[in-house]
Amino acid sequence: MEIIVAKSAGFCFGVDNAVKKVYQLLDTNNERIFTFGPVIHNDQVVNYLKRKGVKIVNDIDEVNEKGHIVIRAHGVTPVIYKKIKDKGLILEDATCPYVKKIHNLVEQKSSEGYRIIIVGDKNHPEVIGINGWCNDNAYIVNSADDVEKLKKSDEKICVVAQTTITKEKWHEVNEALKEKFENILKFDTICSATTKRQSEVEEISKVVDLMIIMGDKKSSNTQKLCDISRKHCPLTFKVETSLDLPQIDVEKIKKIGISAGASTPDWVIEEVIRKMSELNNQEVTKNEVNQEDFN
Ligand code: F3S
Repeated sequence: MEIIVAKSAGFCFGVDNAVKKVYQLLDTNNERIFTFGPVIHNDQVVNYLKRKGVKIVNDIDEVNEKGHIVIRAHGVTPVIYKKIKDKGLILEDATCPYVKKIHNLVEQKSSEGYRIIIVGDKNHPEVIGINGWCNDNAYIVNSADDVEKLKKSDEKICVVAQTTITKEKWHEVNEALKEKFENILKFDTICSATTKRQSEVEEISKVVDLMIIMGDKKSSNTQKLCDISRKHCPLTFKVETSLDLPQIDVEKIKKIGISAGASTPDWVIEEVIRKMSELNNQEVTKNEVNQEDFN
């Protein structure tokens, strides 16, 4: 049995940076550490940090002590920055620079009179954060059907993307927007780490019998990887840890592909690879695919 592990599996730059910031704070100071929402969509990491005394808050008003507060990679609205300042908390800003770039763009274009359109999930913290930089005034659309509900208008619009949506969705929504608006300025703000991860999953899922995608059940980028994989490989399984692994019929399954969402630590990925080889009592060839092959 051959196992193909996607080179892009696991932490992206932004998540890695945010998690390291919390670990560094734990190492270097004795003051209270808060994170605004879970720093990462991964229960194992979050539970470990909780045991070390890190407190998750979902509202700055919940904080009644002094200390450091970490803003995770998803970013937040200007209102949250103000509340942090007013409370006298020490800001540890781990907003991913790619997300920060969208905040700046949205703030700028909104001040120039553009209506902002965000292509993404209206309930996702990243999208909520972006919307805050245009006074919560954006239209948020997640499909061509959502665009259908908008009124035709000659207002100037500026379109940006949640960093983790698929290129397919971006194109579909932009095609639909052309029917509604004449004056469109668009910025494809999909993160290249996301695009690489998705294209690698697509390529691997075409050549394997079974695909394992690791990630937290709340992680939207993991779910997108599963959706892409299932188009080519119906035997696609989403697992959070090695305990969720399916039984594998080694007579039928000759090649297995593995990838993981941006919030999956390397040790979880390694554990799954090890368990799969044990489960099947087989010699496993770990075949690292080079991303450059797909570019
Ligand atoms: Fe940043 Fe891209 Fe990760 S936007 S948080 S590096 S998926």
